[in-house]
Formats: sequence, C-alpha cells, structure tokens
Amino acid sequence: DAPDPFTVPLPLPPALKPAAVLPDADVYRVTTRPAVAELLPGLQTPVLTYGGSYIGPTIRATTGRRVIVHHTNTLDMGTAVHLHGAHVPAAHDGFPTDLINPGTTRTYEYPNRQAAATLWYHDHAHHMEAEHVYRGLHGFYLLEDPAERSLKLPKGAYDIPIMLTDARFADDGSLVFIMDDSGNRTTLLTNGRPAPYLPVAGRRYRLRLLNASNMRVFRLQLAGGEELVQVASDGGLLPAPAPTGTITLSAAERADVVVDFSRYPAGTRLVLSDTLTGLPVLRFDVEGRVRDDSRVPSVLRPAAPLPPATTVRDVTFAYDFALGWFTINGRLFDPDRVDFTINRGSTEIWRIHNSTSPIGVPHNLHVHLVQFRVLDRNGVPAGPAEQGPKDTVSVAPGETVRVQATFTDHLGRYVFHCHQLDHSSMGMMAVFEVV
Ligand code: C2O
Ligand code: CU
Repeated sequence: DAPDPFTVPLPLPPALKPAAVLPDADVYRVTTRPAVAELLPGLQTPVLTYGGSYIGPTIRATTGRRVIVHHTNTLDMGTAVHLHGAHVPAAHDGFPTDLINPGTTRTYEYPNRQAAATLWYHDHAHHMEAEHVYRGLHGFYLLEDPAERSLKLPKGAYDIPIMLTDARFADDGSLVFIMDDSGNRTTLLTNGRPAPYLPVAGRRYRLRLLNASNMRVFRLQLAGGEELVQVASDGGLLPAPAPTGTITLSAAERADVVVDFSRYPAGTRLVLSDTLTGLPVLRFDVEGRVRDDSRVPSVLRPAAPLPPATTVRDVTFAYDFALGWFTINGRLFDPDRVDFTINRGSTEIWRIHNSTSPIGVPHNLHVHLVQFRVLDRNGVPAGPAEQGPKDTVSVAPGETVRVQATFTDHLGRYVFHCHQLDHSSMGMMAVFEVV
C-alpha cells in the first residue's frame, strides 16, 4: 500500500562537484555502486546509484564548455552511460554494447555544443537498461546558455528538477523488478519519494519535469487545472511560452514549466497529480510573497527554419508473434546490423507509425544524437508544446507521427528505440550510422 502522502519533503538531488576545473572543461568522477536509500519512510531499499545517491547527482554545464566524466563501474556487470538528448561523438554516446566492464573506468566527453536544455544521464547496457534505470541509475544534466540566461527565467533556488518514476515495493522495502510489469508499479516517486511536499515562496518557479519511469505515461495537472506555462521541451526552449492545464510526458520526455505561486495566498496547498492514475505527485505549500525579478518573455527562442528533407523513412512499431516481442520495422535489435545509413549533412523526415495489428499499445521513439522537430500527428500540425526541440516523441496505437532532423556533423553508429525501457531492453531498438 502507498504510504500516507505529503509526509516527506521533496529531496533535491545533490549537485556534483568537479574533481578538476580546466581552462575549457569541467572534470567529474562518478562511481556506479550499490547503496541503500530510504525511499519509503522507515524502510531501507537496496538501490543502484551514481555516486551513492538516489537519484544521481546533478551535473550543471554551460554551452560551449566541455564536460569530462570519468565513470567507474563497481557493479558485477557491464554498464553504459548515455547522456539523453546530447549531441555527442559516437564513442561517448553509451552504445548499448559499448560497455564499462566491471571494475573499470571509462571516460565520456561531452562537447556541449547545443542549446540549453534539461538533459539526463542513465544506464544503457543492453538487456539491462530497464532494470538498471528502475533501480536508480539516473540523474539530471542541466545545460544552460547565455541566451537563455538573458531571458531571466526563474533560476537558482527557484529552478527545481523533478524526476518522476514509478516502483513496485516488496513488504521489506526492496524494489521488485519484473519485465513488462508497468501496471503493477503503482507507487509514484517524485525525486525518489512517494508524494512529497515542497514549500514554495509566493513567486515564479521553473519546474523541470522529467518522466524517468520505464513505461508509464504521466498526465500532470496542478490542483485540477491551474495554469502551467511550458517554456521548454526535451531539447530546450520553445519558440514562445505555451500556457496549459495539463502536461503529458511519455517515458524520457521533459517539460520545463513556470508556475507563478504569487497568484495564491500564503497557506495555499496545491497538489500536482497524475490524472491517469489519480495519484498525487507533489504538493506545493505556498508561503509568503517575496521579491521576484524573474519573468517569462513572450518570445523565448524562435525556431530556425527547417532545411528541406532529402530522405523520408518509415519507422513502424508492431508486435511480432514469431519473435514474441515488439519490433521496429519487423526486426529486433542487432548491435552489428545497421538499419539506416544516413549521409552526414542531410535532413530526413521519419514517419513513425504505431501499428495496432496484431496488438496495439503505446510506444514512443527516442533518437540518439539529434534533436528533431515534430511536424504532425496523423497529418495534424504539432501543437504549441511540441514546437520546441524534441528527442523523444510519443506515438499512440494507430498513430503516425512525422519528425524531421538534420544530421550535422558526428559520424558513426547510434541507436534509436522505444524509450519504454522494458521494450528497448527486450530488443525494440535499431541502429543508424552517419557516414
Ligand atoms: Cu534515454 Cu537511448 O536513451
Ligand atoms: Cu514500446
């Protein structure tokens, strides 16, 4: 049974401190290791961690300044670290079979030549990523840039990363992991706690919402529909703020929203809840008004015009009875097979179709290396919340979603996959190579 809601404060993930600061790069060290965390009040849960904390430490980076992370793996199985949403060379992307072997260290370098965005890092070791992420191998990587800073969105203590996951606990507090078991993972965790509370001042806050669950879709509302102003999607700022009463996130998607708590008198309590489960996610306890120099300008980051696409590809999700699993274009993942060969510099449209035959379930598509633009869903142009850069897009049963991306510079092999990690772990993944 879920514990009483709103008995624990929202924990904020620790900030990772650099091991060294070089003229053009910050250097970090992270050790992947088992630990114990109090996810449920009074119970000790064995978890997997980046550096001992569940959720992992937050890395803060600035566009144009490199980040180097030395990852040491002390687990007894291989790991691979993927920086989700990042534009990085193939050798640093955490390809699912490019493992950090047990007891060894591997160095990942991130150029950070992309716009400010709420990115996150997580395990990607093939067949194990779903369980590893479920047990705790996930953390925020917050990239900022001068243009975003000049907008004066809420920052510092008023910029809150919020990671949403779900879990199934045994009576002793241990995490139960069963593949494709999402309907039984009925405890929602917010920064690793069930339904915590957060005291907030009467002013604007930026909330960086991340769905880090394996399979679940969250449909979030504040106090039954109070205004949330979305300012960014997966890969950074929207062209213009998008006010909404509901934020829907499939696995791995992000939405940054600004909420103005000065609209509510001190003492107001506002619950963010998931309308799909009816479960509370986080309660905001509004305190007194404070001075607020932040703002939400009417123009955020105008979208660059799309270069013409030279290739159109089909990506079809379907269930295959003979293979016994969900496939992409009729096949399961083979790390040695290149499914799409893409010319460097080219712009492509991918037409993603989720077939209902013979079984229709929701999926989504995450493409490594690029941020894409969502063109349309079943021919209907993407809405305001999908006008920004995206790296993950939901595709409902029967739906066809078209996205467009330009493959600018890095060469090599990357994956694209359903980010319902139980699906990708079981092979719903494919390879593209930029040549
Ligand atoms: Cu969030 Cu291929 O990963
Ligand atoms: Cu899927």
